[in-house]
Amino acid sequence: MVKDDLESMLSWRNHPEVKRFMLTQHEITPEEHRAWFEESSKDQSKALLVIEEHGIPIGTVHFTGVKENGTAEWSFHSAPHSPKGTGYKICTSALQFAFRNLSVNKVSSRVLAFNTASLKLHHRLGFKDEGILREHQLFGNAHIDIYCLGILMGEWLEQQAAQQE
Ligand SMILES: CC(C)(COP(=O)(O)OP(=O)(O)OC[C@H]1O[C@@H](n2cnc3c(N)ncnc32)[C@H](O)[C@@H]1OP(=O)(O)O)[C@@H](O)C(=O)NCCC(=O)NCCS
Repeated sequence: MVKDDLESMLSWRNHPEVKRFMLTQHEITPEEHRAWFEESSKDQSKALLVIEEHGIPIGTVHFTGVKENGTAEWSFHSAPHSPKGTGYKICTSALQFAFRNLSVNKVSSRVLAFNTASLKLHHRLGFKDEGILREHQLFGNAHIDIYCLGILMGEWLEQQAAQQE
């Protein structure tokens, strides 16, 4: 992600179809977004990616807690109104980047219980369920469970090898 991406990334992030699945629920202001980018882009433990197809941005993936041989947590969204299959594409590219370029051993994720598409996508990518944080997040008046999922580098490599057979 570079400075020129900021405007479109903010409009994606605040889009109702993205925002309603995020752990942070408020409308992000341009100032807050810029400050977050300034800090995050200097932080060696973060990797902010914009995934492009034929030069057009189709999604964004953020890794935090990046450490060689350690565990990074990710979050992602596809561009609003993307065709089906975009989620799988952006996540596959980002996982490849995490294991090959960031050299992490594990990618972990936290997903709101009602986010069926994301849970299905994680399972399709090979993530394993690791537990449920019960009624962990207050959404309006409702306490929502958070699903914890993870994938190990070894599992990813095994899966890649099986797909090439
Ligand atoms: C989550 C997100 C990236 C999925 O993108 P997508 O392009 O719909 O994903 P895909 O088409 O690759 O679908 C992945 C799987 O989810 C399923 N899926 C997609 N939308 C679904 C829905 N609304 N309900 C149930 N399943 C759904 C697909 O059928 C597919 O499963 P399959 O492989 O068994 O067929 C996208 O919806 C998004 O950006 N959502 C808002 C932000 C978000 O939720 N981010 C993740 C936070 S943890």
